[in-house]
This record gives sequence, structure tokens and C-alpha cells, in this order.
Amino acid sequence: MTDNVLLSQEADGIVTITLNRPESMNALNRALLAALKEQVDELLFRRDVRVIIITGAGEKAFCAGADLKERTGMEETEVKKFIFTIRNLFTSLATLNKPVIAGINGIALGGGTELALASDIRIASTNASLGLTETRLAIIPGAGGTQRLPRLIGIGKAKELIFTGRRVSADEALEIGLVNKTCEAHKLMDECKKMASMILETGPIAIEQAKYAINAGIETDINTGLGIESNAYWLTIPTEDRLEGLTAFREKRKPEYKGK
Ligand code: COA
Repeated sequence: MTDNVLLSQEADGIVTITLNRPESMNALNRALLAALKEQVDELLFRRDVRVIIITGAGEKAFCAGADLKERTGMEETEVKKFIFTIRNLFTSLATLNKPVIAGINGIALGGGTELALASDIRIASTNASLGLTETRLAIIPGAGGTQRLPRLIGIGKAKELIFTGRRVSADEALEIGLVNKTCEAHKLMDECKKMASMILETGPIAIEQAKYAINAGIETDINTGLGIESNAYWLTIPTEDRLEGLTAFREKRKPEYKGK
């Protein structure tokens, strides 16, 4: 990993990833993208990790999007390569076999909001400010924003926000469904961990299949989606965890799931 642009902490099945370029509002440069890709690729195969939390270092920003200083020196082909890399990276995060919680601790603009959109659950501090502001730079969201924002908040509101490049406060983000929850900045990590801890109580294979069924099903018609749900459900039936859930219920105790 390069220059500690990304920090990673592990405890009890939760990995907390921190974008660590606070002097640049945690803007995404090539080094940070490479470090994040390395992490995500590794996490895909970590069976002991159940939930990922992504946040930004410092008190001001979650992520101010692409590093515009680095961008200034790029040839057109390099810009295309950067966009290709960030879009694929966010897609691998969105399809990762574990839930990802974005702890939005301040400004999240452009790619910062797209990173939050690629996460499964978004919790924002009350001082957060989100926006797909790319059109103000005469470009468009290129890391999934034009696709994930309308799917999350509806096409009308998404068009408004992308066409105007307007920023929304944490309160408005909550109102329009762009974030799941808001809390005071000093409680943000606790709130993310509380959410993660509830997920830890569930069956790992169930969560993986639920995420897959939701992600894949939402892209299809209802009958195809129900077929996807059915297939995903079938995979949970032969698991030891399913039997453990039933046994624990009968024995009036907490289940101990093993992801088997
Ligand atoms: N890329 C590179 N550096 C960035 C950055 C970005 N996307 N966003 C902020 N920074 C840097 C600033 O250049 C500044 O560094 P400097 O002190 O060396 O000049 C530092 O972070 C602090 O930012 P500053 O602009 O002084 O803080 P602010 O509170 O006045 O404003 C923002 C913060 C985020 C609103 C403002 O920096 C901004 O609009 N950034 C661009 C965001 C954007 O358009 N992102 C979408 C990219 S597609």
C-alpha cells in the first residue's frame, strides 16, 4: 500500500477503511484508488470479515471526489483510464459479498457521493454535504452516479441534483432517501458500528445471498427478480447455519453462525 493513503482497522469481523488524504479532502488520486482496489479485492475472499465501514480521515471531508489537481496534468487517455478504474472499483464494492456501510463524515462530492452510492448503507454526520457536482466542471458523474442515484432516490430528483450540481445537506439527504440515517459527527463511528453489529448477528450466507438477490433483482422485471430470490434462498437451505438458527430458537438462545 502506498504512503498510507488508505488506513484499515479490523475488529470482531468489521473492517474499517479510512480514506487518508485529509489535506486534499480525501480526494481520490491514482494511489488511493489503487490502495482501495487492493483492499476490496482482498476482502472478497476474507470469510472472517462480515461488514466493511468506509469513512474519511479528518473532520471536514468524507471524500471530495476525484483529485482535480492530479486530473489537471492528465492526457485525455489517462482521464479515460482513471474513470474506467474508478467505475470498475465502485462496481466491485457495490457487488462485494459483504455489506458496506459508508460513514459520511463531512463533504462528499462527485466521486465521494458515488462512493457512498456504491455502498449498501449510508450514515451521515449532521455536518455532511453531498452532491454530484460534476456538471459544474462540464463533465458528468462517471463512477456510477448517473445510474445509482436515480435507482436510489428516483429519476426526477436525481435529474434535478445532477443537472443543477446542487449540494444537499445531511437533513435533505435523509429526507430524499439519499442516506439511511444522520447523527452528530462525534457519534458517527458508533452509529456505523451499531449497524454493523446488528448485521454480525445474522447468517453470513443469508446476507451474501440477500445482497445478491436485491442487487441483481432490482435490474430485472418482478418475475425474473422473484426467480433470482428463489435461487438465492435455495442456497441457504442446505446450510448448517439455517439448522443452527432453528435449534437456537428451540433452545431459546442466541444462534452462533459460522458461515457454513
Ligand atoms: N481534488 C484535489 N484537491 C482538493 C479537492 C479535489 N477534489 N477538493 C479539495 N481539495 C483541496 C483543496 O485544493 C485545498 O488544498 P490547498 O489548501 O492545497 O489548496 C484543500 O483540499 C482544502 O480545500 P478548500 O477548497 O480550501 O476547502 P473549502 O472548505 O473552502 O472547500 C470544497 C471544500 C470541497 C467545497 C472545495 O475544495 C471543492 O469544491 N472541491 C472540489 C470538489 C469537486 O468538485 N469534486 C468533484 C470532482 S469530479
